[in-house]
Amino acid sequence: MSLISALSIICGLMLHLSLSSPNTPKYCVPRKTVPYSSELKLFKEDGISNYSTMLIQEDLGVLLLGAREAIYALDMSNIAVNKSAVYWRVTEEKQRECNTKGKLAEVECRNYIRTLHRMNETTMYVCGTNAFSPTCDYMSIEHGQLILQGMQEEGKGKCPFDPFQRYSSLMVGNALYSATSINFLGSEPVFLRSSNSALRTEFKSSWLSEPNFVYMDVVEESVDSPDGDDDKVYLFFSENAMEYDFQSKMAVSRVARVCKGDMGGQRTLQRKWTSFLKARLDCPLPGLILPPIVQDVFLLKHKDWKESVFYTIFTLQSGLSQVSAVCAYKVSDIKHVFTEGKFKTPVAVETSHVKWVMYTGEVPVPRPGGCINNVARKMGLNRSLDLPDKTLQFIRDRPLMEEAVPPVSGRPLLVKREALLSRIVVDRVQALDGQTYDVMFIGTENGFIQKAVNYDGEMFIIEEIQVFENRDTINILRLSSSKGFLFAGSEFGAVQMPLSNCSRHESCADCILARDPYCAWDFTTEHCSSVSSSKTVLQSLKEGDVSQCPEPDAVAPVDVVLTAGNSVQLPCELHSNLAHVVWQFNHQLLLPNEKYHIYSGRLLIFDSSESDTGLYICDSVEQINGRMHNRTMAVYHLRSSTDFGEATTPAMTTHFTMPLSTTTLEIGIVEPLTPGNQKEKGKMSGLEVAVALLTLLCLSLIGVILFLWVRGHLECLKIARASRQNEVKRQSAEYVHIPNRTSEVKLLGPEPGTPCISNNNHCTVDFKQNGVHRITSLANISSLNGLGYINDESEI
Ligand SMILES: *[C@@H]1O[C@H](CO)[C@@H](O)[C@H](O)[C@H]1NC(C)=O
Ligand SMILES: *[C@@H]1O[C@H](CO)[C@@H](O)[C@H](O)[C@H]1NC(C)=O
Ligand SMILES: *[C@@H]1O[C@H](CO)[C@@H](O)[C@H](O)[C@H]1NC(C)=O
Ligand SMILES: *[C@@H]1O[C@H](CO)[C@@H](O)[C@H](O)[C@H]1NC(C)=O
Ligand SMILES: *[C@@H]1O[C@H](CO)[C@@H](O)[C@H](O)[C@H]1NC(C)=O
Ligand SMILES: *[C@@H]1O[C@H](CO)[C@@H](O)[C@H](O)[C@H]1NC(C)=O
Repeated sequence: MSLISALSIICGLMLHLSLSSPNTPKYCVPRKTVPYSSELKLFKEDGISNYSTMLIQEDLGVLLLGAREAIYALDMSNIAVNKSAVYWRVTEEKQRECNTKGKLAEVECRNYIRTLHRMNETTMYVCGTNAFSPTCDYMSIEHGQLILQGMQEEGKGKCPFDPFQRYSSLMVGNALYSATSINFLGSEPVFLRSSNSALRTEFKSSWLSEPNFVYMDVVEESVDSPDGDDDKVYLFFSENAMEYDFQSKMAVSRVARVCKGDMGGQRTLQRKWTSFLKARLDCPLPGLILPPIVQDVFLLKHKDWKESVFYTIFTLQSGLSQVSAVCAYKVSDIKHVFTEGKFKTPVAVETSHVKWVMYTGEVPVPRPGGCINNVARKMGLNRSLDLPDKTLQFIRDRPLMEEAVPPVSGRPLLVKREALLSRIVVDRVQALDGQTYDVMFIGTENGFIQKAVNYDGEMFIIEEIQVFENRDTINILRLSSSKGFLFAGSEFGAVQMPLSNCSRHESCADCILARDPYCAWDFTTEHCSSVSSSKTVLQSLKEGDVSQCPEPDAVAPVDVVLTAGNSVQLPCELHSNLAHVVWQFNHQLLLPNEKYHIYSGRLLIFDSSESDTGLYICDSVEQINGRMHNRTMAVYHLRSSTDFGEATTPAMTTHFTMPLSTTTLEIGIVEPLTPGNQKEKGKMSGLEVAVALLTLLCLSLIGVILFLWVRGHLECLKIARASRQNEVKRQSAEYVHIPNRTSEVKLLGPEPGTPCISNNNHCTVDFKQNGVHRITSLANISSLNGLGYINDESEI
């Protein structure tokens, strides 16, 4: 077994090496990259930072924005418009007191607004960290003006002490649910409800063990419930695992829930939750040793709560590689684990060590951790206060479920490398085909929003949009589906972005290939416009079928004058990151070599001569859902300068004349390939050869193992399979330097059903503008894709 483990690690590493070669798969690359635009509406105020709390008040048309020592009421349709502001600064005394307790005066000893909840149309509840002394207040909004009531209340347990600590809270009716630390040191975590009937978690590590709270929401399960069930509040967090025999501390992701009608127990669990149950959340990423950690959650509500879905973001806990993923969980699947699943129970092994195993004994009735429902009521139990001690004692000691909650379809919806995903919101959109699609808007740690849709298992990233000029981490994301806006906040400001900008797609083909459920091609106006505002329109989301688009106008050829001995650069702009460029010279396919170079679509001809004159055509070839789409983007006539009888052009300059206008344009000349670049190229293929050899060696080792352990050792089979897939991926990912283009084109694109795995923005052989290779460094090797799925950590 240990031999296999060792080998699987070696082989895994090998596969990582092969994957980290420049020919990384192009999976899940956003189709378009939209750079930062100053057109985006931005709000910030000098001297104020940490814009990380938002409350949308659609009826008032305002976005309330909480920052450090300030709260703003911004116009929802243009957040650059500041309707009103209140400032809530720490007093000098508080700041001094906090500072003497060892906290940084200018960083930690300030008032970070962390809680903003709506109580009714005019009143809100606000809490701030207030120099490590959390405080809450009421705030009213009258005629667009914010007024802090000055009715300060103790905020302990409602808001964190530490501004850097993640926390979550929720207002349900008049009850505030909050999950945070209740003491200065941050060592006493609680999940509590502040209301007439206040409740909290037990101070036991089996309930919460160094948790990091992420998200909370309510699901109205009492609506039309046949068994008289109660509404539930779901809490997402990560904490120290108790169920694994792992030498060092290991974190796991959890979902917990409580019943809204919980009133605590009479003797046992007095003023504590009687319905606190938690389960592990699984988001299986291949090849991970430590489970990934939940970072953000969004509840996409549906009229029928059973159809509601929690969308979550996971990142790795090792920090060795930057991989993140999106997993989705149906509320009904979570509920199933809590209401039907088995419990875990602690057993003492050896002296001090406690092991958590599946509980197989008798479970008391009513079922521990359940809400008061018709079954309980029939037993004469109308409130949690009536529950028998046996049920309460059971749940006090065993809040953890045996089963983990599996994600929808058993695997991540999306896996992304390099740019870490930080926040997620999801909009459900009705498209022209009558179907609804869940469009995910995912914020990243480098200031981008990724907009992605799942089309029958195929994950498609429509576009990525840079919303912060300095690529700040997106700390908060809010969606207004009715107004069609997305709001994002960072340390340095808040921005507003429309959910779609169809006018970005200029042609019919571009509009259709974008596969954006918000957009359709309008035949009457000949514009790509939003679905709601259009009538005679075309949309093809799943297929990306452009056959009904009008024929595009033929591309007008451009004359380019060549000077023998110089290099020529022919630009060709592709409209999609997923497209490949194919150049033809006199209707012959052009393959890159010492003479021809292709980067960012453009063609470079080195050391040009008379024999290079002729017709050059640039085609963009894009595969959408198995369908090839081929479009001519540019056509050039390369002519010798003698044809025009011109004087010799200055050295290293190429002129080309536009045929229609008579203007002569000058275009830049690119440096010839330097020996240094050539050497790099050689080195790279050397590495590839080494990797290929090692992979071969690895595969033969696997063969030996398979021979020795014929059956039962599936792990290795998985590795073999994974490596074969990787080989396919490698072939398919070749970009420029491959001889047989037709076969490459066929292989492109993710195999159906595989989650997409991608580098951040641009992958494959990526040339910088100066013509120098960018080599994916070995530091980028991720621990993904190697070891096959390891669902049970005990296998390791
Ligand atoms: C926002 O409005 C408040 C007054 O309502 C004003 O003091 C503040 O300077 C404004 N901030 C910005 C950035 O416009
Ligand atoms: C809103 O709630 C506050 C605090 O509970 C209360 O004082 C106020 O009267 C309420 N206003 C309305 C219009 O209900
Ligand atoms: C607040 O923003 C500043 C940068 O403006 C940053 O240094 C600090 O870490 C942030 N504080 C928190 C609690 O995020
Ligand atoms: C529970 O409620 C029912 C009907 O409202 C009542 O008859 C019964 O006495 C109650 N039981 C307890 C223990 O309060
Ligand atoms: C939408 O895209 C067009 C074209 O790129 C741009 O001019 C416009 O400013 C964008 N609109 C918004 C609201 O970003
Ligand atoms: C694209 O289509 C044109 C015209 O149909 C054809 O000449 C060209 O070879 C095609 N290019 C590719 C790469 O398939």
